[in-house]
Amino acid sequence: MQTQPRSPLKVFQSLFQRKTVRQPISGFNYEQLIAYREEGLVRLQIKSVSKRFDSRRGKTLALQDITFDVASGEFVCLLGPSGCGKSTLLNIIAGLETPDTGQVLLDKRAITAPGRDRVVMFQESALFPWLNVRDNVAFGLATAGMSRSEQYDRADHFLRLVHLGSFEKAYVHELSGGMKQRVALARALALDPDVLLMDEPFAALDAQTRDLLHAELQEIWAETAKTVIFITHNVREALVLGDRVIVMTARPGRIKRDFRSNLPRPRYIEDHALVDAARDVLSDLREEVLAAAEEETKREKLAA
Ligand SMILES: Nc1ncnc2c1ncn2[C@@H]1O[C@H](COP(=O)(O)OP(=O)(O)OP(=O)(O)O)[C@@H](O)[C@H]1O
Ligand SMILES: [Mg+2]
Repeated sequence: MQTQPRSPLKVFQSLFQRKTVRQPISGFNYEQLIAYREEGLVRLQIKSVSKRFDSRRGKTLALQDITFDVASGEFVCLLGPSGCGKSTLLNIIAGLETPDTGQVLLDKRAITAPGRDRVVMFQESALFPWLNVRDNVAFGLATAGMSRSEQYDRADHFLRLVHLGSFEKAYVHELSGGMKQRVALARALALDPDVLLMDEPFAALDAQTRDLLHAELQEIWAETAKTVIFITHNVREALVLGDRVIVMTARPGRIKRDFRSNLPRPRYIEDHALVDAARDVLSDLREEVLAAAEEETKREKLAA
């Protein structure tokens, strides 16, 4: 609870003033995270997960035989064409959906329902407009048996971590889109989950705000060592953030490629090595986006 976040100005400076010598992120503990992985401290195990939806339009096989492990403290990004089952997989990990076959284990225990050990963050921040910023962040803490002042201390700590320390009295309509997502992130972190599940959390933001949040999220992740699953359509975003980028196939979603990235951190969206890696991942993704588009055209023809 003693972390002193860097000022937004410093984050901006590190983002926009390129340094000749790369500075490590303050408090960054990448070696520890690598050690966790090498020790095989597996947090999540996704085992042969398949999911089918039956609706009036027919049956949809959304996921087919998805298997992968996620180490403690690992940052995994999921990429894939629209409709390939990314959100479905995240919802299964969250315990909001159940798989038809297979299972997901968290610390070797099967996930059967939502729990405090996992928090989901969506594209829309889902904040309560009738509560101020601090009360939004403190909201989930009442059930954790904390006193009001403990809740507020904790809320304020995480608001400072996302650089919104002076906005605790503001209401949601007074915030920009980027600020709302920061509040949502502070709220998620305040609950101290083992696993943070993020479904395109920055997709609705402008490019500059997104760049800033990438820098902040890398810092926060390094300081909190959370295990993160992050869905995005943006290949470079995936490579800025992820230790791993998992590319899924067109529906039914399967794993096409599990790309491990050792690019040095902190990373920037325009780094040469990152752009090269992005080109490589993008060619895999494009094949699947094309396959999904062809499938959609076939469906339309059949329906006509
Ligand atoms: N509750 C549901 N009932 C019926 N079909 C569903 C349901 N939820 C998802 N699907 C279908 O499952 C498939 C996967 O959906 P999902 O939302 O997981 O895709 P996604 O990869 O997250 O897509 P996007 O990138 O557009 O968010 C889609 O074909 C979708 O129509
Ligand atoms: Mg989705």
